[in-house]
Amino acid sequence: LKGQGMKRDSIDPRLVAAGSGLIDRSIFADQEIFEQEMRDVYGKSWLFVGHTSQIPDKGDYFVSQAGRDAVVVTRDADDRINVLLNVCTHRGMPVCRYDKGNAKRFTCPYHGWTFANTGDLTGLPLSSEGYGGKLDRKQWGLIKARVAIFHGSIWATFSDEAPSFDDSLGDMALMLREFMQGPDGEDDGLETIEGILKYEIHSNWKFGAENNAGDLYHDVSHNSVQRVGLALSGLRGRHVWDADKQTFKILNVAYPAGGHAARVSLYDKAGRDYQSQWAMLPEVDEYFRDAHYKRQERLGEQGRILNRGGIVFPNIAYNSAGRWQITMWVPRAPNRTEVWKWYFVPKSAPQAVKDALRHYLLRYGGPTGMVEQDDIENWASAQIGAESEAARRLPMNYTLHMGHAQWAWPEPWLGEGAYVDEGVSEHAQRVFYQRWAEMMGGVVHARELEASL
Ligand code: FES
Ligand code: FE
Repeated sequence: LKGQGMKRDSIDPRLVAAGSGLIDRSIFADQEIFEQEMRDVYGKSWLFVGHTSQIPDKGDYFVSQAGRDAVVVTRDADDRINVLLNVCTHRGMPVCRYDKGNAKRFTCPYHGWTFANTGDLTGLPLSSEGYGGKLDRKQWGLIKARVAIFHGSIWATFSDEAPSFDDSLGDMALMLREFMQGPDGEDDGLETIEGILKYEIHSNWKFGAENNAGDLYHDVSHNSVQRVGLALSGLRGRHVWDADKQTFKILNVAYPAGGHAARVSLYDKAGRDYQSQWAMLPEVDEYFRDAHYKRQERLGEQGRILNRGGIVFPNIAYNSAGRWQITMWVPRAPNRTEVWKWYFVPKSAPQAVKDALRHYLLRYGGPTGMVEQDDIENWASAQIGAESEAARRLPMNYTLHMGHAQWAWPEPWLGEGAYVDEGVSEHAQRVFYQRWAEMMGGVVHARELEASL
């Protein structure tokens, strides 16, 4: 697969040649591959569906997506969280047609079957005269997902084969926990800002996912924001942090076992001073200064990490470099993806700080914000490239820093199997596609991958 001028029919389109760093463009555009992804990747993965702060009280619910599957997430009378397929078992109608609310039961608007918020079928019109009292209600409840709660985040899978959530997450748990704990290191320290931002983009879901796995290379795309001084720090130029102090390194951490990846700042020692990145919002700055020292105290050695963002395979990105958000890509078609965004604020912050953060987040991110528009344009345009017959003569190129990584400080508690390197590289993307290829039944090149890194 190496080299220019490869012939398209020589490629198995399911095969991502991680060892060569080259990827066939058809995986972004072909309907058949998309259908297989829904079955073999989404159908067998743990998927984020929401946050416990969206349903604080018994009876609360909200609707979400587990890949292409619509779900209702409920908190029942026993305080248990259920993730139910939002598809009536009678004839397929969604049983819940509101975004959120509080209800003990859901009555299907088509023929009136009624389901408790635990999923049980409790109401059956014409039960005795129509079904002779013989329809087994136990069998016809809403389909229930396996559910895992992780520091406030809610995850689900409809697969019986998928390993436990903890096993799927593996060493990435450290990173995700660090994100879900919020700025002061409280166990369950975040809450959602009311309302989930949703919009549609005309590109394949993997463009967003791979970008968030660790594309520090695309700096140039967001240059305008830096130039006009709208970046987080209010400073102009690329360096938000004081690079001269050299007290931390920015690391790419990729976990090949699960396909996850994160970007972190790792301080050389615990207890380092707060470095302001909220110059433009003094009241927020003060809150974060406090939170920084509380967190250092609480976490000790592990407080050396500052989590900047990452991806939980396959379709969830979190971003925490001052803006706590989770992005979910909902695949609708090879070239159509819904983007869902949860914005978070620290639970413990005063209302004025929460308000300031909310305004900042909307100005900065989302389809009307300053940064996200750049990427919407990038990915929709890359999609056109993936659909071009002529362009498919050449694969996509993911060879940046392949074979000459700048290996970082070994930190065993980052995870034993983790690939850790420093600076701009495409290791995390290669790891992402390696995992994708494995799940799609492609040839596994684990040894080759390792050699290439
Ligand atoms: Fe729901 Fe018939 S489709 S009751
Ligand atoms: Fe970007």
